Amino acid sequence: TFGWQGLIEAYRPYLPVSAATPVVTLLEGNTPLIPVPYISQLIGRGVRVFVKYDGLNPTGSFKDRGMTMAISKAKEVGAKAVICASTGNTSAAAAAYARRAGMRAFVLIPDGYVAMGKLAQALVYGAEVIAIEGNFDQALKIVRELSDNYPITLVNSVNPYRLEGQKTAAFEIVDVLGNAPDWLCIPVGNAGNISAYWMGFCQYRQQEKCDRLPKMMGFQAAGAAPLISGQPISHPETIATAIRIGNPANWEKALAAKEASQGEFNAVTDAEILEAYRILASHEGVFCEPASAASVAGLLKVRDRVPSHATVVCVLTGNGLKDPDCAIKNSNNAVKSGVAPDLSAVAKVMGFE
Ligand code: F0G
Repeated sequence: TFGWQGLIEAYRPYLPVSAATPVVTLLEGNTPLIPVPYISQLIGRGVRVFVKYDGLNPTGSFKDRGMTMAISKAKEVGAKAVICASTGNTSAAAAAYARRAGMRAFVLIPDGYVAMGKLAQALVYGAEVIAIEGNFDQALKIVRELSDNYPITLVNSVNPYRLEGQKTAAFEIVDVLGNAPDWLCIPVGNAGNISAYWMGFCQYRQQEKCDRLPKMMGFQAAGAAPLISGQPISHPETIATAIRIGNPANWEKALAAKEASQGEFNAVTDAEILEAYRILASHEGVFCEPASAASVAGLLKVRDRVPSHATVVCVLTGNGLKDPDCAIKNSNNAVKSGVAPDLSAVAKVMGFE
């Protein structure tokens, strides 16, 4: 075998796997840590900003990190079917990995609030997609009960193997930078990923792979920000449908990470999210989905508090192609259409004639 073999092989000593674990992998992980000079310049004072572009995973989001572990461990104990509630990305990853492992994949989604790319993926990978007339929090409650009562494995981030896989993104960041960053900015929905990153940084510190820990800066959409208001929200709303969540399952873990790291939770508005989304694409050439841009929107919002010369990593959790409708509606750009098929007409539209 050649090259990158997926994150379980890369980080095997740090993961709860054994020789008996059948590794189900699509060679996820090893995603780029991309410098973003325009955004660094917006902050100034010698601050260096990078984005961890996890949208380059096999199904286009960080969920693949968790799913390679969750599905491998499910297969190890002979599971025949898995289930999840999802705002879209978990369903795409669960579907791909489960089908590769020969399992059935059931996914519960909030009807009308899943981006088109994600829905397309779940369907084509062969998941059994059930849309409820309710939100993510209600879907999660149902799948937790289903997995308690029927022979089906839950693969939401309450499955501990999910976080084990996702912590490897922190390892990769330290492996590239040679140390932990000063700040880690991350979007927060169900609060699994922020908890996983914190686990990863702490484990690497214990192994003396880094000599410090980052401040964990979690950002929620203003209309779906229970961690900031301190109480669950029954009707979360945001354009960033991936993080349209009112009662995060990993609330306690995320809070512990924030406190231990002297970090912060802050809210960003949909307008701020979309502004960061456009800046990332049009100035840096990095296309992420709206929820992911919450990390950069948050950094820009609290930019005055970033220490001079700090190294900051913003996690871009999902690929922009997941949500083409959002891009077309919010790009501040439009196709110049209705142009005659001749050179002078095209040159005129270009402003050359
Ligand atoms: N960014 C994206 C693109 C996501 O899809 C999610 C969560 C998050 C951030 C938040 O991560 O939940 O660990 O705090 N998506 C889940 C899903 C809920 O069903 O795909 P979190």
